[in-house]
Amino acid sequence: MKDKIKKISSLEDLQVLYAETFGKNGTMTQKLKNMANLSNEERAVINTENAELRQLFKEKQSELEMAVLNAKLADEKIDVTLDCEPKNRGTVHPLTQSLKEIASVLESFGYTLWTGPEIEDDWHNFTALNTPEYHPARDMQDTFFLENGNVMRTQTSAIQIRAMEKQGAPIKMFAVGSTYRKELDATHSAMFHQIEGLYIDKGITIADLLGTLRTILSRFFEKEIELRVRPSYFPFTEPSVEIDMKWGDKWLEMLGAGMVHPNVLRNCNIDPEKYQGFAFGFGWDRLAMVKYGLNDLRAFYDGDIRWLKNSGF
Ligand code: PHE
Repeated sequence: MKDKIKKISSLEDLQVLYAETFGKNGTMTQKLKNMANLSNEERAVINTENAELRQLFKEKQSELEMAVLNAKLADEKIDVTLDCEPKNRGTVHPLTQSLKEIASVLESFGYTLWTGPEIEDDWHNFTALNTPEYHPARDMQDTFFLENGNVMRTQTSAIQIRAMEKQGAPIKMFAVGSTYRKELDATHSAMFHQIEGLYIDKGITIADLLGTLRTILSRFFEKEIELRVRPSYFPFTEPSVEIDMKWGDKWLEMLGAGMVHPNVLRNCNIDPEKYQGFAFGFGWDRLAMVKYGLNDLRAFYDGDIRWLKNSGF
């Protein structure tokens, strides 16, 4: 009997043998029932056998239960060295990434983010920006006009106007967004993006503008940036400048900027005798292209995952 128990290898078989032994008509049950007719010595033998068998069954049961558990664990184990199906995970677009980085720099200088509509009215896109209808500067930007006289926003400068109208002065804001012009080649797309900054307060000078831009660009590109300033013209700034940045041994045109024209301040009910300030506009796409070494602007909008991956994104 003891050997029989020892040889059993499944819980089911053990249960059967247990019933055969200790069940209603089980062998041990029978022996115990007949004990009344036996001598003390014989009883003692049966009692010992009974206790031993019960103990053996108990041990065997836990041994078999453990084996089942171990088998289960072995079966469900995850083999981390196995190849698995390649997963295509989404990545951050270079424009989004560069925006996060430039926005965190601007925010650290106290600029707050404003937005505005992409379909803009004439007032915000041109007139309030000191560009009345007859003004030749409207030709500088090949505008998409809509039938109702609105335009596809040609510049995020429109958002400066909205911000100044709403908040007045002092104000320190930036804006980002899509802008639209009829131009298309390897470095221009009909839709592109700008980042605009505006700071109006008492006694702001062009030295503040240049210092701010150099610091912002150095922080964004994570190295000391050298700037070159050229005189330029924008209807809404006076004086106006274009700013180039030294990159390797080349000068790259990075942004337009200037001191906000008194007419623009007046158009937003700000007294130019009291408040002055500067504005600047970056090509957002250009910032991303330079920072990440990408050279085809159009690829930004193709949504080709292979290009994004090859670009390190
Ligand atoms: N809005 C100008 C452009 O699109 C850039 C600019 C912004 C210039 C702010 C001066 C001040 O070219």
